Amino acid sequence: MEPTNLQILLAARPEGLPKASDFEVVHNPLPVPKVGEVLVENLYLSLDPAMRGWMTDRPSYIPPVGLGEVMRGLTVGTVLESNDPGFAAGDRVSGVLGWQRYATAAGSELHKVPAAVPPTLALGPLGMTGLTAYFGLLDVGEPMEGDTVLVSGAAGAVGSVVGQIAKLRGCRVVGSAGTDEKCRWLREELGFDEAFNYKTAGDLGKTIGETCPRGVNVYFDNVGGDMLDAALRNLARGARVVICGAISGYNATEPVPGPANYLALLVQRARMEGFIVFDYAARYAQALAELGKWVAEGKIRYREEIVEGLENAPAALPRLFTGDKRGKLIVKV
Ligand SMILES: NC(=O)c1ccc[n+]([C@@H]2O[C@H](COP(=O)([O-])OP(=O)(O)OC[C@H]3O[C@@H](n4cnc5c(N)ncnc54)[C@H](OP(=O)(O)O)[C@@H]3O)[C@@H](O)[C@H]2O)c1
Repeated sequence: MEPTNLQILLAARPEGLPKASDFEVVHNPLPVPKVGEVLVENLYLSLDPAMRGWMTDRPSYIPPVGLGEVMRGLTVGTVLESNDPGFAAGDRVSGVLGWQRYATAAGSELHKVPAAVPPTLALGPLGMTGLTAYFGLLDVGEPMEGDTVLVSGAAGAVGSVVGQIAKLRGCRVVGSAGTDEKCRWLREELGFDEAFNYKTAGDLGKTIGETCPRGVNVYFDNVGGDMLDAALRNLARGARVVICGAISGYNATEPVPGPANYLALLVQRARMEGFIVFDYAARYAQALAELGKWVAEGKIRYREEIVEGLENAPAALPRLFTGDKRGKLIVKV
């Protein structure tokens, strides 16, 4: 029997948390690669908070996914057939190939994944996740030895790498996460100096003050909302606030209020700056070489949670927002 292409389409624009009925599972014939294209069998799909934004019809750094289109997603897979001289059958590649088992793409849209790299790592610390942590912290946050670096969403895919790179740079690192188990993992296995559970901490501003007594030199923000406001209350002179994401507001159905404490930027001569990892593409190879060395030496540790079966991706996506997962959330296609 001919294999068919299992695809998951965006069927509706979510209201609040995405649900299964926002997606449609279909089976189509395999795509045929044109000249300059390759056919890829996807092995793993990365689930990312940004997907929630891509499902909404609103101007952003990338157009939204259209209704009836294959849901956008970063994957790692194997080349089955190549009409691009730069790729051969059997090559391992990564690219934005979507929520589908098979995809065609121009070779220029794909990155080769070295055979020695386990494929799921190419979606985690040795992929977009690690690159986001690397450039966001080092280029935007500019940590200096001895700085206090506060990271929210610290037990997540990006945050856990941020904290470990900051430790490698000689910083004092404090993280926030949503369970005591995640906080223990940060302290006991990743070497964070302090970690607190933002759900049970009570007054976040006071907790940050207690865990960062010399003030926060770099705040790497993955969550926005109350955490951002509380961090602003505790900035040190000349602090850098890195806006990586604001997951606490991604499912909001009403406009999200801005940070009340923004004037701390003035008082502390601080700056707040957002970034998009794609803008650093010219430097990915150099960053991946350094991240690869740190992972091989055990200096960057990680955990991942693998969901079996592409058809289970819609049910898994909300776990990014409930926090019901440990480390990087990945779907085995
Ligand atoms: N700027 C860029 O180029 C770029 C690139 C990639 C990712 N990002 C951003 O980076 C952030 C982290 O992404 P990731 O892939 O590493 O995801 P992740 O951290 O692995 O997963 C999301 C985590 O966010 C936490 N969370 C969910 N709702 C929350 C809330 N209301 N308040 C506080 N924490 C909440 C949950 O952990 P808890 O159990 O701790 O609540 C959850 O595990 C996201 O904001 C994402 O959009 C930005």
